[in-house]
Amino acid sequence: MRYKLVWTFATIAVALGLLVPAITIAEEAGTTQAETVQSDAMQLAMGARAWSRECSRCHNLRPPSELSDEEWEVSVTHMRVRANIPGDEADAIIAFLKASNN
Ligand code: HEC
Repeated sequence: MRYKLVWTFATIAVALGLLVPAITIAEEAGTTQAETVQSDAMQLAMGARAWSRECSRCHNLRPPSELSDEEWEVSVTHMRVRANIPGDEADAIIAFLKASNN
């Protein structure tokens, strides 16, 4: 009887031991994904704002659909140097243009 009780507890302990790390890993994966989605959305929002502010300073805004992903990378890199746009803003602008051109 006593042996059985100990065995039951041992089984539960082992099961929990396996379960807890599995839950923790799942939770961590969930959080990371949510955070990635959130930071992507924030970068796109920052890119959209910086694009309308920075890229209209010297000429009309060209619609995102006008150029391909590769062309926007070249073009914004060119404009970043010309207009002295901070690197993280330029990256956000590129992300926004790539997400909006298809
Ligand atoms: C400081 C002024 C200035 C700012 C700010 C600026 N541009 Fe330009 N842009 C120019 C000039 C001048 C040209 C003419 C081509 C050149 O630079 O040789 C040009 C040309 C372009 C062209 C034509 C193709 C090319 O690469 O030459 C594109 C596309 C373009 N700009 C997009 C942008 C985008 C997107 C932004 C925002 C990230 C931006 N521009 C910000 C001055 C600016």
